[in-house]
Parts: sequence; structure tokens; C-alpha cells
Amino acid sequence: MKKTSFASVLTFGCQMNIHDSEYLKSELESLGYTLINDYIEAEAIVINTCSVREKPETKLLNILSQIKGLKKKKPKIKVIVCGCSAQNLGSKIIELYPFVDLVFGPDEIFNFKNLLLNLFTSKKESTHTSFYKDFSYMNTKVSSNILNHAYLTVMKGCNSYCSYCIVPYLRGKEISRKRLEIVEDVKQLVDKGISSITLIAQNISRYGLDINDNLINLIIDISKINRIKNLAFLTSHPKDFDLNIIKLYEDIDILSPLLHLPAQHGSNKILASMNRNYTKEYYYNIVDNLKNSKIWKNLNFTTDIIIGFPEEDDNDFKELLSLLDYAEFDNSFTFIYSPRKGTKAYELYSKKTDLSLKKVYSQRLKMYQDRQKEIALQKNKNLLDKTMELYIEQDSYKDSLKYTARTKSYKVVNFIKPKDIDLKPGSYVLAKIDKAYPTHLLATFISKV
Ligand code: 5AD
Ligand code: SF4
Repeated sequence: MKKTSFASVLTFGCQMNIHDSEYLKSELESLGYTLINDYIEAEAIVINTCSVREKPETKLLNILSQIKGLKKKKPKIKVIVCGCSAQNLGSKIIELYPFVDLVFGPDEIFNFKNLLLNLFTSKKESTHTSFYKDFSYMNTKVSSNILNHAYLTVMKGCNSYCSYCIVPYLRGKEISRKRLEIVEDVKQLVDKGISSITLIAQNISRYGLDINDNLINLIIDISKINRIKNLAFLTSHPKDFDLNIIKLYEDIDILSPLLHLPAQHGSNKILASMNRNYTKEYYYNIVDNLKNSKIWKNLNFTTDIIIGFPEEDDNDFKELLSLLDYAEFDNSFTFIYSPRKGTKAYELYSKKTDLSLKKVYSQRLKMYQDRQKEIALQKNKNLLDKTMELYIEQDSYKDSLKYTARTKSYKVVNFIKPKDIDLKPGSYVLAKIDKAYPTHLLATFISKV
């Protein structure tokens, strides 16, 4: 392979996919590829897909239609599809788009280099979409443009089977990674200069239960590693959330005051048909515990919400708005319910879907988001005039005279680049917050840390 070959990795979906794409990018770099964003120029195009809702899957099929023309002009380019839609659609992808060279599921991620190299020696396209019982983890790899923050998988799969969700069918059963191995992995990232790490799993609250361990032990062990500045973990499930974690936030300095605790809904009727295994009262109790703790005023409390689940009526929606008011989320990732073939909800409701309700659901979504913005703005205003330590992520997309940075709780803060001071993405600064918006903050630079 020529040293100047270009590769492009397109990523859809969750943090797990961002993590997996970093692994893929690092492997491509180790094979001599230079990474570029625009896939039109690339000799290898990897599409890391998401299947959780219908939209990203449709997006994949649209992109493949575009790539079809490209491959006709440049037959030597390699087109690779991986991630959840690869697992979901399997060989159907190659049937529909015969120019695709390779399709592989999430369990094959660590085998990517071999699969890719095989493409150059054998002419046949291949699909790999099985789960491995003896799945073993590899150390986290990140591409050369990653400066200071990495996602690290601590557990794969999900055993929770929420009725709307396709993930357990595509990512398989939970398999926790051994605590010692994770600690070693964190150390090797820290040695590379990465000081901010987010541990990830579909339901991290269940980390370790299959190997007689738990999340608290893991966080405590990682917190003892020198030179790590910020540690976060995603995603917590209310039914498995251990209230003792709240104490940990208070006691462990490096733990980021970020809690992503998807509520999904605020009505007991809907929560039951979603198979979430908790009631709204149970969720409110977690919120009470958070509000009574020392961390509440600094906590970036976020959630996922599904609107328009079958049989959601006005009363259910009112209860959802009450949950939002009670929990005072800093941010909600909101989705309109998307029926996914193979799930329990699809089986139960797909024939009864009333398309005329689409408009009602969009209106509810907007009402929810408007209220969320008001609450977020109010919470962000509480940070005005505070001096905070920020981590510089990158140049601001909208204004190259500004940097985009993050607070310790991962809130977005923009500030004007100071003249005559050499700052770079990856470094830490002190800045004073002087303007609040629902989605971000503006600050004035004070000093380098
Ligand atoms: N429709 C809409 N949203 C969904 N999610 C998962 N499955 C679906 C679906 N079928 C959302 C949930 C989950 C987030 C990652 O995606 O809110 O927490
Ligand atoms: Fe899907 Fe529920 Fe598992 Fe999350 S916990 S991945 S929503 S089944």
C-alpha cells in the first residue's frame, strides 16, 4: 500500500461508536493511511453505523447510494460497513449494494486490521455478524488527532431488553471487562497524555455483576491512578443505579459531576410498557437523593426521553413534563419513538400504529424541548460570574476567534482566544463565566492552568 493512501471513517450513533471509530482510525493509521473527513477523496471508506432508530439506518442506505457512483469511477477503493446496522442487516447490505467490500458487526471490531488486509489478498467480499462467547477486549486505541479525552469500554452488550430497543439483539449479552485490565488500559492512555477518560457501557450501572464486581470498585481503583484529571461514566440505568455512587461523587475529586440517567418517560403506564422496571416515584427518589447531596449544585444532570411511545396520551405527556420540572435536567436527548423490527414493542404495536398521531407527537416534542431550554437556561445562569477550570477541546465551529472548551461536568463553554498567550486544544485554563444560554456558556479567559 502507498504511504499516501487516504481513509475516511464516518461515524453515526452513540459514544460506543465514537469509541469504536477511534479504534478503527488508529488501525488505519498504523497501516499507513492518512485520515481525512471528506470520503470523496478516500481510498478506504469505513461507515460505522447505528441502528437504534430508523433514521440513521436510512442515512446509511443514502450514503451507500452516493458511494455507488464513486466506486464506479474508482473501482479500487474499499468500502466497509460496520457497527449496529451491519449486525442488523448483515449480508443484506452486500445483496443490495454489491460494491461493498466488507460488512462486520460490533464484536469484530478488534479484528478489523486482519479483515481489511484480507481484502487486498482475497477478491471475495465478506460478512461477519456473529457474537463471540469468548469475546476478549483489546486495549483502547485512539487516532493521532485525539488530544486529551478518550472513551473506554468497560462492558459490552445489554441484558435489559427495554421493549422499544434493538441494542440487546445487536450487541449481545453483557460481558464485563476485568477491573485490573481496565486499570491497565487507563494507565496506558494516561501515559500517552490523555488525562480525561469516560468509561462507557450500554448500562454501566450493571458493570461487573457478571464477574462478581461493581462500578464503585472500578471507579475507586481508577481514581488512584496518578495524572488522571477527569473521570466520567456513561450510561446509568435508574433500575440498577446504586445510590452509593452519589457519595462517590462527593468523595472522589477526579469524578466528573456528570450523571446521564435516562428516564425515557414520566408516566408509570408508559414506563411499564417500555419494560423499564421502575416507576416514576422510584426515579423521583433518585432525584431527591441527588438534590439532597453536596454535588447537586455542580451536577450536569442529563437524560434520554422517548416521546410518542404507543398509547401515550395527554395525561402521560403531562406526567412527562412534571418529571422534567421535578428533575430539572440540564439537558434531555429527546427522540420520537421509532418502531424497530425484532423488538417487543414492534411485535405488540406495529400493526396498531396510528400515523395521524405523528403531528401530535411532534408538537409534544417541541413543548418538551421548549420547557427543557427554559430550565437549562436557568441552571446555566446559576454559573454566571463563577471562575471555572476548562479543558480546551477545539476551535469553535462558528467563530475561529474563539475556543470551545468544557467544564469538568462537560458543559460547553466558548471563550475568545487570548492574544499573546500560547494556548492549544488539550490544555486547561481558568475562565470566568459571563453569559448563559440553554445549550452553552460564554466565558472570559483568566489564566493558563
Ligand atoms: N425509538 C426512539 N428512541 C430510541 N432509543 C432507543 N431505542 C429507541 C427507539 N426504538 C433511545 C433511548 C435510548 C437512546 C440511546 O436512544 O432514549 O436511551
Ligand atoms: Fe436499550 Fe434499554 Fe439496554 Fe439501554 S438499557 S441499551 S435502552 S435495552
